[in-house]
Amino acid sequence: VILTVTPNPCVDKTVFIDTLEVGAFMRSSRYTCIPGGKGTNVSRAVHAMGRPTRAFVVVGGHTGAHVVDMIEHDDRVECVPCWVQSPTRTITTVLEEAVHRQTAFFEPGSQVTPDEGEAIVERFLLSLEGVRLVTFNGTVSDRSIQHLYARLITAAKARGLITILDSHGPEFAQGVESGPYMVKPNVAETEEWLGCRLDTDDAKWQAIERFHQKGVELVVLSLGKHGALVSRGGMRLHAVPPVIEEINPVGSGDALVAGFAIGLTEDMPLEAMASLGVAMGAANAMSWDIGHLTRADVEGLLPHVQPMPASP
Ligand SMILES: Nc1ncnc2c1ncn2[C@@H]1O[C@H](COP(=O)(O)OP(=O)(O)OP(=O)(O)O)[C@@H](O)[C@H]1O
Ligand SMILES: [Mg+2]
Repeated sequence: VILTVTPNPCVDKTVFIDTLEVGAFMRSSRYTCIPGGKGTNVSRAVHAMGRPTRAFVVVGGHTGAHVVDMIEHDDRVECVPCWVQSPTRTITTVLEEAVHRQTAFFEPGSQVTPDEGEAIVERFLLSLEGVRLVTFNGTVSDRSIQHLYARLITAAKARGLITILDSHGPEFAQGVESGPYMVKPNVAETEEWLGCRLDTDDAKWQAIERFHQKGVELVVLSLGKHGALVSRGGMRLHAVPPVIEEINPVGSGDALVAGFAIGLTEDMPLEAMASLGVAMGAANAMSWDIGHLTRADVEGLLPHVQPMPASP
């Protein structure tokens, strides 16, 4: 089983309108609502590929209950909720169909008390039954749990599990210090971690080395439509996706993580898992829905992904 961890999920609502008029009352005849959060996106993509997954989410209030209900009944993914007092946030995206533009409104995430922080660790340890790999996704909801990924990665590694970290900011930096098996930053997240720009290929490969120096075995630096740089054990690849019509690339990084999680749990060679990840990222970008890719789309793209050997 692939366990995904989402400390900061949301009710993810998209309201469809023609064009946005600031300061006006906008009425809409259509909206969608999905369980939001990076780990839930990973679980949805893993499930779409027919593999078993479980979603661990930190949730609170009625909105939290709604998130759990949508994970279980809409996504049909097993959910392990960890309850806190403070309610789960809603993110509202306004999508202008005429101009193909999105504007999003983010509420603050749940506050977490010290006792709740300890309870999250306890609950996590109880959710590992049958788990081979854990992905840690997105930000944490409260500064009081910035150390969360570092602690959970250490605990998961002690139990012999494969760990993937896909986050940014202080919780990412602290998590990296625990030496997760894999990290998947994009360029901006890597720049934030290093505190410098990465304008050249050389600089990107040097940044990848810095992750290896922290004990990370597999580094996947994602480059949007240009694919991903992949490095493990002295082997370096640039996996290049085919040209597609990009509709919505939000969540493509999560689909990429899902592909690597599947590859790692099935002991695929590095080229094969890189191709699967990149094909899943591209498939996600081909539709509006986040992580609602189909296995047929992925299998159609897979032969067109080029896992090229790269030399730094
Ligand atoms: N327009 C595109 N065409 C083809 N493939 C794409 C495109 N956009 C993304 N991908 C694929 O998805 C992968 C991840 O995308 P990206 O680098 O944008 O992740 P990200 O910034 O982490 O996104 P998010 O956090 O929203 O999921 C890329 O490595 C690439 O394989
Ligand atoms: Mg991402």
